[in-house]
Amino acid sequence: MKQAKVINVSNVSGGVGKSTTAIELATYFGMNGHKALVVDADMQASATDCIGAKGAPFTEKELSEMEQKVKEGENVLNVLDQSLIENVANDLSDVLIDPEIIENVIVSTKLDNVDLLPASIRLCQADKNLSDDITRSAVDRLADALEIVKDKYDFIIIDNSPAQTLVSTNTLLASDLNIIPVKLDRKSVKGMIISLRNTLSIMKRNRKNIDIRILFTMVPKRGKTENMLIPWFRKQLGKLIFDTVIPYQKKPAQDASLMNKQVVHTKTNVGEAYRHLGNEVLSMMKQEVR
Ligand SMILES: Nc1ncnc2c1ncn2[C@@H]1O[C@H](COP(=O)(O)OP(=O)(O)OP(=O)(O)O)[C@@H](O)[C@H]1O
Ligand SMILES: [Mg+2]
Repeated sequence: MKQAKVINVSNVSGGVGKSTTAIELATYFGMNGHKALVVDADMQASATDCIGAKGAPFTEKELSEMEQKVKEGENVLNVLDQSLIENVANDLSDVLIDPEIIENVIVSTKLDNVDLLPASIRLCQADKNLSDDITRSAVDRLADALEIVKDKYDFIIIDNSPAQTLVSTNTLLASDLNIIPVKLDRKSVKGMIISLRNTLSIMKRNRKNIDIRILFTMVPKRGKTENMLIPWFRKQLGKLIFDTVIPYQKKPAQDASLMNKQVVHTKTNVGEAYRHLGNEVLSMMKQEVR
């Protein structure tokens, strides 16, 4: 029987390659016959936009129904809000309220062997919902939900927002491995330190073991970062750092994000690096690519 390994991708610094890493890894595992679930834990919903079905635009019928309500004296913002609530499918925020419904919220994607637990802007309410319900633990909901589906997947990969919230505590406590992508600039190194300390303190407080690995991303070829910074960080932090380095590659990566295409199956440097990373993770998890 399958028993999914859960991989969290997090850094409190924004734009360091969290979503890209989560999606490329899931794509690679799926390509190689492993069943993967992407959990989108970011209200920006980048992963959902990238691999999930796009939210449909308002229909003519909806617009005329809303117009009628406004004519009858209802506030236009309330009318719009109500229509969105009725039309938005369930997402992670519903699962954090009721972990039992997870199987009904997971959707399939255009990628082979990859499913998605989607996110939406409604996640901005999740912390309030979690702390309002004082009858249950606010930090174990995602772990409880994932237990229900772990026998269906080999890997569950969680894409986080940069914010440190009750949602991000939930994602860490559900994880076996926390990958921290870092661009080696001062801002994202600061984010890495905060993320590392936070992971260690959550592990200690909850007596839970989580593997931690730092991933250098968007590294320009043959520059100071590659020649000077990476060797220094490897010397100081050794085993915490993946062998794989993700190079900066303006064109393919930006095209990929604009066109919602993944690069892991392409001949680009970034594609090759993500394949290497996938294999590193697989060997860490003691699984082999079929
Ligand atoms: N190796 C790369 N080389 C060049 N650009 C890249 C690379 N990886 C990702 N990018 C681009 O960098 C931007 C940020 O990447 P991404 O969205 O994955 O970061 P993030 O950490 O998830 O951001 P956020 O904190 O906003 O969620 C995107 O436009 C992405 O296409
Ligand atoms: Mg992101």
